[in-house]
Amino acid sequence: MPESIKDYIMQVKNISISWTEFKDVSELSPEDQELVLSARKISEKAYAPYSGFNVGAAVRLEDGTIVTGTNIENAAFPSGICAERNALSSAASNYPSIRPVAVAIAARNLNGFTHDPVPPCGNCRQVIAEEEFRNGSPIKIILTGTGRIQVIEKGGDLLPLQFNRNNLTVNPL
Ligand code: THU
Repeated sequence: MPESIKDYIMQVKNISISWTEFKDVSELSPEDQELVLSARKISEKAYAPYSGFNVGAAVRLEDGTIVTGTNIENAAFPSGICAERNALSSAASNYPSIRPVAVAIAARNLNGFTHDPVPPCGNCRQVIAEEEFRNGSPIKIILTGTGRIQVIEKGGDLLPLQFNRNNLTVNPL
């Protein structure tokens, strides 16, 4: 057995995340309540004829500006895009030098707003993590359902062991 393997001492490591749960939107700060209402409102404009799942996302920038987005589906299913990425891309395109500080997400199905909070998909988590790296500051994620609200202070916590710019060997930043 090569020395390098023989000498390796196995270690089990662990990552844990924490979040805050609220029963109702009214328990949030006025700013966050406004963001949730914006996400709920924009969900009405979602284009989701295939899933019937209408998602709205609202991004708050550090200057207070709110930028919204919805999911936009496509007959070629993979060409569709989630509400979170639409909202974050719109914010980054229109306000590249103003940091996003929070994102609220709300979703409706045929029965109305979901009871359970809707978490961002893996692709959206990757995009949220990139925005945090790009701006060097955390983005608060506010997941809403009629049954409860979950607040994660740093979006990147939803993507443990994430791939980011530090993993690129050419010109690491
Ligand atoms: N979707 C979002 O827009 N955001 C999420 O967090 C989860 C999923 C969209 C993608 C697709 O249009 C529909 O919801 C069903 O997956």
